[in-house]
Amino acid sequence: MSLRLAALILGLWSLTPTMCDRTDGGNIVLGVPILSAPEASGVKSIESFRCHLSDPPEGESILFTLYGNNGTKKHGEYSAHGKYTANFTLLIQLSYDGLFYCTASVQNNTAIQPVKSKDHYFKVIEPVEGAELSSDPSPAEVFEGQNLTLSCSVKKGTHFSYNWFINNSSLEQSRHRQEGNRLFMVSVSSEDAGNYSCMTWNELDDTVYSSNSTQKLVTVRVGVSKLNVSFSVQKNGTGYLAQVRCRAGRGTPLINFTLYDEKGERLGSEETLSLEASFPVPIELNRHMGLLHCVAENGHRRVRSNALALRVVPVGGSVRLTLEHVDSSSSDRVSVRLRCAVERGTLPQVHWFLNDSSLDSRGDFHRIEEHSQSLLLTSVNDHSSGSYHCVVTDSFDAIARISSEKLFVDREVVSRVPVSVLSVVLGCFLFLCCLLTGCCIYGALHRRRPAPRKRIRILNSIAVNNMEYEDDEPVEDEYMEDGDLATAADMEDRDTVEGESLDEWEQIEKAMQINCMDEEVPPS
Ligand SMILES: *[C@@H]1O[C@H](CO)[C@@H](O)[C@H](O)[C@H]1NC(C)=O
Ligand SMILES: *[C@@H]1O[C@H](CO)[C@@H](O)[C@H](O)[C@H]1NC(C)=O
Ligand SMILES: *[C@@H]1O[C@H](CO)[C@@H](O)[C@H](O)[C@H]1NC(C)=O
Ligand SMILES: *[C@@H]1O[C@H](CO)[C@@H](O)[C@H](O)[C@H]1NC(C)=O
Ligand SMILES: *[C@@H]1O[C@H](CO)[C@@H](O)[C@H](O)[C@H]1NC(C)=O
Ligand SMILES: *[C@@H]1O[C@H](CO)[C@@H](O)[C@H](O)[C@H]1NC(C)=O
Ligand SMILES: *[C@@H]1O[C@H](CO)[C@@H](O)[C@H](O)[C@H]1NC(C)=O
Ligand SMILES: *[C@@H]1O[C@H](CO)[C@@H](O)[C@H](O)[C@H]1NC(C)=O
Ligand SMILES: *[C@@H]1O[C@H](CO)[C@@H](O)[C@H](O)[C@H]1NC(C)=O
Ligand SMILES: *[C@@H]1O[C@H](CO)[C@@H](O)[C@H](O)[C@H]1NC(C)=O
Ligand SMILES: *[C@@H]1O[C@H](CO)[C@@H](O)[C@H](O)[C@H]1NC(C)=O
Ligand SMILES: *[C@@H]1O[C@H](CO)[C@@H](O)[C@H](O)[C@H]1NC(C)=O
Repeated sequence: MSLRLAALILGLWSLTPTMCDRTDGGNIVLGVPILSAPEASGVKSIESFRCHLSDPPEGESILFTLYGNNGTKKHGEYSAHGKYTANFTLLIQLSYDGLFYCTASVQNNTAIQPVKSKDHYFKVIEPVEGAELSSDPSPAEVFEGQNLTLSCSVKKGTHFSYNWFINNSSLEQSRHRQEGNRLFMVSVSSEDAGNYSCMTWNELDDTVYSSNSTQKLVTVRVGVSKLNVSFSVQKNGTGYLAQVRCRAGRGTPLINFTLYDEKGERLGSEETLSLEASFPVPIELNRHMGLLHCVAENGHRRVRSNALALRVVPVGGSVRLTLEHVDSSSSDRVSVRLRCAVERGTLPQVHWFLNDSSLDSRGDFHRIEEHSQSLLLTSVNDHSSGSYHCVVTDSFDAIARISSEKLFVDREVVSRVPVSVLSVVLGCFLFLCCLLTGCCIYGALHRRRPAPRKRIRILNSIAVNNMEYEDDEPVEDEYMEDGDLATAADMEDRDTVEGESLDEWEQIEKAMQINCMDEEVPPS
């Protein structure tokens, strides 16, 4: 604006001679004056700005004028004869920062147009001081995915540059945008957390001035997520108590956990420093106590867990112990896994025994895995050979104890456990299987009704032991279909391995035949 104004004034001024009195000397040519001045200077320093004409007209007195502050301020006039240079001495002030130029005109001769030098940009350097860092939002605490802007300001200083640091190392390679005095952090992640500072610096006469801000700690909070609900049961006097546990996968504390039932009623609420909270809920066994869910929040968003059906059924039914190969292509040692499965029970606890002595969760040759439900034998040798069995109890009390049959395991037995049970079964006992399949599919097609209990009993007696626990309700709907046949064959096979197979085989065969007969297969 001021530049334009200056230009306009100059323009008008240059027009006046032509429009008004035109005296002689119209043939005088001034040429463009040359302004020599420092590029930059400090406040309160004394500097010379010089203006001269390379080819001044002879015998004329030339008037040089120095304009500064982007053309808005006339700093002085200087008369010089001939080749003399105009010398302006200025005591530099902060406001002098900007464009300078000088003009030359013939003194007391308005007929000749004044001429203007090129612009010269003059910087007034004031050393930086007092860098400060501020943040938006303040305090600098945001959740992942939110934005944060850091601004660096100084108490004093001109023409300075910024450098950003995190944990005292330069932020040059950052994905965040630096613009002017600001650092725009878009969609922050937890990796962006740290101590930020800005360094401001400028340079004058080969001296670098710098000022560091204090460190500002940027905290990135993680919203709660991956909320799960689970429970365990414990006894409370004569009753039972479910400890319902709400657990978040991620989230910066404090986290407020609340447990609700299906009617939306609050069963408990807790604010914790950890990622989980648990709430005691009195329960009755075998009764559906409702669908529960947890809600968690830590100031950003609320998350809701899946629903948990709170129903605790004590262990019951029969326990089945099976033996299988573990695929271990790398190792030359044979590993086998014993698996213990109970017919029902919400929170079963399995105890393992070798030759009637209890096994710890880990030993030289074994590991108890899969929530105690399987026993991995990493090697089968003299120390690990023997008779294995498992006992299932409820994890919350041991009133019910259901024991499996004993299963003898040694190297010989293990070597005969087929890697692929089904193929060997089919290969070895093709005839029997065909017979059974035919018989049973026939039965299935003709009479889809619960199989007689007798058969189940016989099957169970092989690798499955009947429970020794109350509540022996009839085993229902164990109708044998194709899938079950494979299982039965599976059991049979393992049994053979036990070494007492022959009699058993006859038993099974007999059992199957009996079944078929029971179902009155018409002679073909
Ligand atoms: C002159 O212009 C420059 C660039 O636009 C600006 O930084 C400076 O402050 C101005 N100086 C004055 C005295 O107006
Ligand atoms: C201009 O004036 C200053 C101070 O009066 C002097 O120090 C300097 O030498 C002069 N420069 C020229 C080129 O005459
Ligand atoms: C220019 O004119 C002014 C008065 O208008 C006078 O004082 C001055 O001496 C003159 N200068 C020259 C160099 O003629
Ligand atoms: C964060 O900044 C980006 C870019 O400026 C913008 O597009 C986005 O909407 C901002 N997000 C929030 C949550 O303000
Ligand atoms: C400013 O901080 C940076 C980074 O922490 C450091 O390298 C530099 O030496 C500091 N400068 C001063 C003057 O303290
Ligand atoms: C970072 O630099 C500041 C100031 O130089 C110093 O006080 C602090 O200990 C440094 N922090 C680390 C982590 O190096
Ligand atoms: C900065 O240091 C803090 C504490 O040592 C660390 O948690 C954070 O990850 C660091 N940030 C970066 C970007 O290195
Ligand atoms: C950040 O810096 C402050 C002050 O320099 C220091 O007390 C704090 O421990 C630092 N925090 C981290 C995470 O580096
Ligand atoms: C545990 O049982 C006692 C009475 O036997 C009862 O007072 C108490 O409230 C029960 N605890 C919980 C958490 O329900
Ligand atoms: C929550 O449950 C899922 C699925 O069962 C599981 O993958 C995840 O690890 C669980 N998270 C926590 C924190 O337990
Ligand atoms: C936790 O959340 C519940 C339900 O929103 C609220 O009633 C309770 O006041 C909160 N507790 C705290 C400590 O924020
Ligand atoms: C277990 O008993 C069997 C037969 O009595 C015996 O051969 C075996 O060595 C015993 N195993 C262990 C580990 O004591």
